[in-house]
Amino acid sequence: MEILILESKDAVAAFGAEIFAEQVRKKPASVLGLATGGSPLALYDKLAALHRNEALSFRDITSFNLDEYFGLSSTDARSYRHYMREHLFSRIDIDESRAHLPACRDDEDPWEKAEAYEAAIREAGGIDLQLLGIGRNGHIGFNEPTSSLASRTRVKTLAEDTMRDNRDWFREGEPQPELAMTMGIGTILEATEILLIATGSHKAPAVRRTIEGPVASVCPASALQLHASVTILLDPDAAAELELTRYYQTTGEHQARLLERWKRPD
Ligand code: PGA
Repeated sequence: MEILILESKDAVAAFGAEIFAEQVRKKPASVLGLATGGSPLALYDKLAALHRNEALSFRDITSFNLDEYFGLSSTDARSYRHYMREHLFSRIDIDESRAHLPACRDDEDPWEKAEAYEAAIREAGGIDLQLLGIGRNGHIGFNEPTSSLASRTRVKTLAEDTMRDNRDWFREGEPQPELAMTMGIGTILEATEILLIATGSHKAPAVRRTIEGPVASVCPASALQLHASVTILLDPDAAAELELTRYYQTTGEHQARLLERWKRPD
């Protein structure tokens, strides 16, 4: 794991956007794994600005979102499809026919839809770069604590603390979905590269358990310790409970020096 503690929330968004931009410049037909929630908003703003001001093109990419609320139509304002249109898709030149979310209406078979989502990821050649936020309870996607670390795309019941944390996204009196279809932890771990971003002191305990705790399904994000290419971008508040901060800084400096001397092939 590469742990980078940056000076601010804005720096996390800028650095994260640069990693995505670099991926798209290097491989215009990249397969990107995308996320929703509060964490990616500023990163998406930066990608939209790179598209607008520096002609960064997303025309050839394919995308797969981590999760979608179960039983909503694609035009429902509560859906993550709606979120993605509002915060990213409408602001860049993505071909939305290649922008996938694991949607499943009430009248559709959730097992068939889940298998079709996995198949679509495989057919696209797998995910090159997956963006993740992290829940206060350590979830990634909607893989709530005790999710199998080998899980695949499926319908999950949202944890009570997740329901509480997400309430602000819904209007007064609007029903809040209790189920979602989410990529599994096994699905996420197959991405070639993973970028997790976390900011704010409310994320600090989950960040500590993810990086310095044991690999355990009670903290689903700890499964990332099993992946060979994970970058974690943190602001100082989210990093506040880490014990090995000095070590992460030193390794970062050493890696930078090695990279300067021995350029890595693309
Ligand atoms: P947040 O959620 O970005 O809204 O904090 C992250 C998550 O639940 O994965």
